Amino acid sequence: MIDVEAGLRELLDSLHPIGRNPGTSGYRRYAWTPADRECREWFHRQARARSLAYQVDRNGNQWAWWGEPRAGSVITGSHLDSVPDGGAFDGPLGLVSSFVAIDLLRSRDIVPTRSVAVANFADEEGARFGIACAGSRLLTGALEPDRARSRTDADGVTLAEAMRAAGHDPGRLGRDDEALARIGVFVELHIEQGRALVDLDAPVGVATAIWPHGRWRFDFVGRADHAGTTKLGDRQDPMLPYARTVLAARDEAVRRDLLATFGRTLVEPNGTNAIPSRVTSWLDARGPDPAEVTALVAAVVDESTAEVSNESWSPLVEFDRPLRARIASVVERVTGTAQVPMLPTGAGHDAGVLAAEVPTAMLFVRNPTGVSHSPAEHAELADCVVGVEALAAVVEELAGR
Ligand code: GLV
Ligand code: MN
Ligand code: MN
Repeated sequence: MIDVEAGLRELLDSLHPIGRNPGTSGYRRYAWTPADRECREWFHRQARARSLAYQVDRNGNQWAWWGEPRAGSVITGSHLDSVPDGGAFDGPLGLVSSFVAIDLLRSRDIVPTRSVAVANFADEEGARFGIACAGSRLLTGALEPDRARSRTDADGVTLAEAMRAAGHDPGRLGRDDEALARIGVFVELHIEQGRALVDLDAPVGVATAIWPHGRWRFDFVGRADHAGTTKLGDRQDPMLPYARTVLAARDEAVRRDLLATFGRTLVEPNGTNAIPSRVTSWLDARGPDPAEVTALVAAVVDESTAEVSNESWSPLVEFDRPLRARIASVVERVTGTAQVPMLPTGAGHDAGVLAAEVPTAMLFVRNPTGVSHSPAEHAELADCVVGVEALAAVVEELAGR
């Protein structure tokens, strides 16, 4: 039998330097950049090292096959891209655990009846082009190919140009029925992005649901002018309505017990001694009830003078009940616990997008501080080992032997 801890350490270490910002120790692995290319080469190398058949689908998602690529296979995996200065585990832990789980099953001479594949979904975070889970949304048709292709990054580069530069043909984007048919079931292992497992003193949990969430762009228009000579009364300063809107979003979120975040802002011309001509900022709003989230956003828009457009909406996802019950009983057996924690999450995932098409499920690995989307994100190796053992048992259960 293999040493799971050593396998995990080796794979996590091999990803460690890619796209790492030495100033913050965070990761900048944005879709279709050189750092992303290195991550994708890493994935290809892991497939080759295990003699897993390697594929890239029409939407740029990578697949490594243990067995023939066939309809109705068991798929596990996650993503390798990151948010700006993200942590080392959000996404990569799912990929690393998937490869080590296959190593573990092979070392036990398990020969699955159904084919198994590891998938790396492209552009999960949407950090560069603004749409989260772009690879899985394109795969299912939830994201229009033309809309995706024309999205631009902060430098005005379109997604189509970025993909082409990275060697992927953007002309073939769109719903891919063949690739979808190969997904019989998808199980994503992910670091927990909160503190539920810490409080429950459990190394792993099973997801029940993903809260509905969305992104809205707010454009506040003003007039550029001199900071030292323009009287306050003569200014058209968009920073002021922007600031009021941020506070309004916070107040609405507190009042309704939801989450609302302005986490990204662009200011033009962005000079210390210039009144801005434009402020653009993005609202991320989430909560357990879609109608409540929609009502929060409507209230914020109502109180704001900005032009507002919705950039993405992810409906409430309830993971497949029979599948999650089956997975919970496998995890209980492997971990020797009477009842594995069953948790909803406010974070978005490819498993949530794929849930509209196929049965999907998620396993969470404890995060001692709960911090995520930050360099401080962390999981203890001992918990990751339990995660791999749980994932391997789940794959064995679903794929048969
Ligand atoms: C992705 O992690 C998200 O929840 O936005
Ligand atoms: Mn994330
Ligand atoms: Mn993630």
